[in-house]
Amino acid sequence: MLAVYFVASLLASAASVSARNAADLVGTWTTKSREVATGPGFYDPVEDKLIEPKLPGISFSFTEDGYFEEAFYRAIANPKNPECPQGIMQWQHGTYTVGADGSLQLTPIAADGRQLLSDPCESSKGLYTRYNQTEEYTSFTVGVDPYYGSVRLDLYSFDGTPMIPMYLAYKPPEMLPTGSLNAITSKKNKRQVDGGVDTAFVLRRLVSKDSLVDPDRWLWVGVVMSAMGGVALFFS
Ligand SMILES: *[C@@H]1O[C@H](CO)[C@@H](O)[C@H](O)[C@H]1NC(C)=O
Repeated sequence: MLAVYFVASLLASAASVSARNAADLVGTWTTKSREVATGPGFYDPVEDKLIEPKLPGISFSFTEDGYFEEAFYRAIANPKNPECPQGIMQWQHGTYTVGADGSLQLTPIAADGRQLLSDPCESSKGLYTRYNQTEEYTSFTVGVDPYYGSVRLDLYSFDGTPMIPMYLAYKPPEMLPTGSLNAITSKKNKRQVDGGVDTAFVLRRLVSKDSLVDPDRWLWVGVVMSAMGGVALFFS
């Protein structure tokens, strides 16, 4: 799995004939499985529910005028029971800025973000909560991936670690309305979002053997852990 990680890093440097302009971010980006995309297929604001994709992955969208949306569906290591990974879905949107130094800052609309955490070996129900996580990347590159031949986005975290690569799926981007969804998400349907329990048997698929051999998982564990730290703070 480490080998896969290093190959990914090498590919990142191979795609270095690449641009760093804000305009190059515009579009919907998704990881290799192409099963996860931002927009109404991932989060339904009217029913206030997250919709489980077929396979894990992540997706980001950026508009020309400074809005972003993010969809995230991963297995995460379960320290209490390593045989039984937890599953997590996260969605948020808001505004982004690109700094003069090429850094990328994402500022979510705090009331709109949602997270569904599933611990299938502990409970048949998932934990559905708000999600509000500011994100900062020191740099990003957009270039043509020499191996897959598609346009590829790499985001780099503060210590220079590349995120899992994403590929351009839609341009213009596929997104939900970019403003606050509070009015759309009716009171009736706001399903116990403040720490309540969701009734759906979602994310069970992540417990399958397949997810245990997903190399991408390792790149994301740290990110998810810090994201969950943010949520914990929000609710403490
Ligand atoms: C959302 O997160 C930001 C950054 O961590 C924080 O400043 C803000 O207070 C949070 N909003 C809410 C409503 O918790």
